[in-house]
Amino acid sequence: MRILLFSGKGGVGKTSLAAATGLHLAKLGYRTMIMSVDPAHSLADSFDLEVSLFHGKTGEPYRINDRLQIHEVNIQQEIKKHWREISAYVISVLRTTGISGVEAEELAILPGMEELSAMMYVNQYRREGAYDVIVLDCAPTAESLRFVSMPTTLDWYMKHIFPYHRGLLKAVRPLANRVSPVELPGDSYFANVADLFSKLEGIPELLEDPGVTSVRLVTNPEKMVLRETQRAFVYFSLHGLTVDQIAVNRVLPQGLVDAYFNEWQASQARVLDEIDKYFAPVPVKRVPLFTHEVCGLERLEELAAALYASQEDPAAVTRTEAPYRFEKTDGRYEVVIQLPFAAKGEIGLFKKGDELVVEIGALRRHIGLPTSMSALTPSRARLENQILTVEMMEG
Ligand SMILES: Nc1ncnc2c1ncn2[C@@H]1O[C@H](COP(=O)(O)OP(=O)(O)OP(=O)(O)O)[C@@H](O)[C@H]1O
Ligand SMILES: [Mg+2]
Repeated sequence: MRILLFSGKGGVGKTSLAAATGLHLAKLGYRTMIMSVDPAHSLADSFDLEVSLFHGKTGEPYRINDRLQIHEVNIQQEIKKHWREISAYVISVLRTTGISGVEAEELAILPGMEELSAMMYVNQYRREGAYDVIVLDCAPTAESLRFVSMPTTLDWYMKHIFPYHRGLLKAVRPLANRVSPVELPGDSYFANVADLFSKLEGIPELLEDPGVTSVRLVTNPEKMVLRETQRAFVYFSLHGLTVDQIAVNRVLPQGLVDAYFNEWQASQARVLDEIDKYFAPVPVKRVPLFTHEVCGLERLEELAAALYASQEDPAAVTRTEAPYRFEKTDGRYEVVIQLPFAAKGEIGLFKKGDELVVEIGALRRHIGLPTSMSALTPSRARLENQILTVEMMEG
């Protein structure tokens, strides 16, 4: 199974490109699912479905053709299915603060639940072998970045905090519930968390396997959009995901001769040039600005034709190099991390437990070290050709 994750700044064309890619994959014979992970769904709109206004039918997989389904994850429905205990607890806490029923229910939708729900489906589909390719239409960059780090964060919580929390609460609950105005979570809450976690098991490995998951960054030929794309590239790499394609959408057509657009064309040309240089060797695709919105099957097929040659396979694995690896050379241990665009001054390194923590500006990644390295501490680091090599020594 392949997972193609479309991410990028708001409005750049993620949904349109995800939809067109899904259509093309289905045409090539792949059993394909396009799943919207963006709480503000527009996938059904992109296919111009009548049912889409309030996600009437697409809260469950919805058939587009024999090999193509779309699914807009409906959070209220998911809460009923998976999150009941957790949200019941949050609602009861909110009520004690005087917030009324419906409001508390709205507030109890914790950030990230939608994305995690989508990942549960991905896991389920993988187990069932239901699809050959899952295309994920993500929320604008900030949210999809959180989504990518969430399974590892949860993993960390389950390993380090959860057992402690649970044990501690068992001991203090009888007493605390008598003196505290807020009811402490019951055992069913923990059972629910543990159950949810088991449904997410294996997701970080799927996301980090370049043979399974590829990130396709969608951007526009504008400087500000490009900056966000570069940050996203660094972040995805830092989290062990492989970006194997950049799609520059809304490129003004070559033949356009119009005084009004002269300046736009010149600045697009500059940014396009910068994009090619920056992301090399990651391939960059250019998609023209059409004369109309991309909405409905016919338009989506037109977009697919602009994106892919007729037999071109968007599910092909083209980059397999893992974003980081562990090495032992001449008795020295090293962690080798690919860090596109990172400048020397920005990188921070330290050790926490058996993890190496890498910081770039406000971004942070915990890299679990293999047993042979877990007792070592970072001693030296060098950055060459966008590759950070951290030497590990005995403390
Ligand atoms: N190449 C293009 N030419 C013309 N119109 C386009 C093109 N690509 C996308 N559009 C239109 O731009 C609008 C936004 O596209 P889309 O919804 O795919 O972006 P998005 O990145 O998913 O947005 P959001 O961040 O809100 O999810 C849509 O109306 C779409 O039809
Ligand atoms: Mg979208």
